[in-house]
Amino acid sequence: MTQTKACLFDLDGVIVDTAIYHFQAWRRLANELGFDFTEHQNEQLKGISRMESLELILNWGNITLTETEKLDWATRKNSWYLDLVMQMTPNEVLEGVPEFLKSLQEQNIKIALGSASKNSKLILEKIQMLHYFDAIIDGNNITKGKPNPQVFLLGAEATNTQPAECVVFEDAVAGVQAGKAAGMTVVGVGSPEILTEADIVITSFKEMSVDRLP
Ligand code: BG6
Ligand code: MG
Repeated sequence: MTQTKACLFDLDGVIVDTAIYHFQAWRRLANELGFDFTEHQNEQLKGISRMESLELILNWGNITLTETEKLDWATRKNSWYLDLVMQMTPNEVLEGVPEFLKSLQEQNIKIALGSASKNSKLILEKIQMLHYFDAIIDGNNITKGKPNPQVFLLGAEATNTQPAECVVFEDAVAGVQAGKAAGMTVVGVGSPEILTEADIVITSFKEMSVDRLP
């Protein structure tokens, strides 16, 4: 029998692969500012907030902007990103995710979202996954981004559970660190070479089941 009372899921890269859309929109921003960056550099943007991502990208291009200009560009990037999000369908949900969420519900294990994104509700609606979630903590609720544990501690609070009873699912290094800093078990979703601080790493939810939870 599992002791786990809540599972806290990151969104981008765990439930659905939006990284490619973020990359397209950020790349358009860089191109309009006169430079380019690689998919490899894009890895560094996973899990961190919109404004932190912009700072990194401007750094790569050696561009200095005023605070107002930064906000303007971030708004522009978000509208390009949302154009792509609006075309998303339930087919984009990552393999094994709906089955795993269903099995959690059957065992009365709470399900919460813990994401840096301010667009998470819209994305969950587009992929028809919103109904699974007992709580949504995202970029609209937090003041400190991952690797700070705030997003997951708020998830525990919202599901009336203790951190030690929660399991976090994360694809980003900063997210794994946030989960560990919250005192939770962390399942990395991706590569064990990158997610070295996770308690276990899976490559897909097809490998996950309630009996693998602590
Ligand atoms: C995270 C993504 O989930 O959300 C980051 O991994 C992204 O790449 C961040 O920057 C913020 O997302 P949004 O949708 O609010 O711009
Ligand atoms: Mg992620």
